[in-house]
Amino acid sequence: MALLERAIARVLPAVPRKLVRALAAPYIAGPTLEDAVSVVRRLNAEGKLATIDVLGEEVSSADEARELARAYHRVLARVEGEGLDANVSVKLTGLGLELDDGLCRENLEAVVEDARVRGNFVRIDMEDSSTTDRTLRLYRELRAAGRDNVGVVLQARLRRTVRDVDGLDNVRVCKGIYLEPAELAHQDDEEVRESFRATLRALLDRGSYVAIATHDEALIADALAQVRERGLPRERYELQMLLGVRAARADELVAEGHRLRVYVPFGTHWYEYAVRRLQENPRVAGLVAADTLRRLAR
Ligand code: FDA
Repeated sequence: MALLERAIARVLPAVPRKLVRALAAPYIAGPTLEDAVSVVRRLNAEGKLATIDVLGEEVSSADEARELARAYHRVLARVEGEGLDANVSVKLTGLGLELDDGLCRENLEAVVEDARVRGNFVRIDMEDSSTTDRTLRLYRELRAAGRDNVGVVLQARLRRTVRDVDGLDNVRVCKGIYLEPAELAHQDDEEVRESFRATLRALLDRGSYVAIATHDEALIADALAQVRERGLPRERYELQMLLGVRAARADELVAEGHRLRVYVPFGTHWYEYAVRRLQENPRVAGLVAADTLRRLAR
């Protein structure tokens, strides 16, 4: 991560919540399932697929974790009822990973089973490196138990990632948003890109389904070249982007015939997600500075 991004990451917690909320509005569908449904309807009309994320991570009680799982059941029912082209993305800490392994497994299994019955799919997001082993283990256990409607995420930033591909049949590859120490993670942007390319290559070599999640033009171009060279049909891979980021580029990729899925978060626990997105917005330092100056001038 660049020096400037690190500096921004440090100051963001001091930025007023109201400003964080206003700046992050384009990245979040809104507080309710209704908001997510209307965004997904629009995306589907534009020829894009969606993955819906119910915001809420690091829950502090079993009840909260169960409530988040129930929210996913409501999403899956609504997606089916409305005939939307959308799956779901879940965070294991939201389902209780830090409270109790058994509780988390139970919640995850229930969401995956509900999705299976409805002909849908669950992507397990990847969180910070303290959760990587547990997340991959749960994914592998579900697949071993015959659940093939579940996928996982690998983060190119982690040095271990290219060695993690064994046994992973359905993987979203991304750079990884969490700040990790140099022993565990590449710190140089070009090294992260090289790891992304190598991971994608290794997954395609072993025949995995890949979701290529990046807005980085160099990586999109490289991924599409790999897809072309291998003659992969469009249903063997998908491109993924975040709501509010590079929507015009997404339109072009759809027009070129690629399947493109947009990550659509909604809910009232928006703060952590909003901060992560702002850390990556190249314009955020200027926007925060302009707002600070405006307030000082008042
Ligand atoms: P990079 O950050 O270099 O961005 C490339 C360009 O895209 C920028 O130069 C800018 O133009 C634009 N851009 C990127 N972010 C922007 C923003 N917030 N606002 C405005 N412009 C922006 N991470 C993780 O650790 N675990 C996970 O499970 C997931 N899941 C996930 C799903 C999907 C669908 C996507 C697209 C991403 C994730 N991520 C993630 C996040 C991912 O790891 C990474 O942090 C971001 O995608 C940013 O990295 P890029 O590859 O886009 O490159």
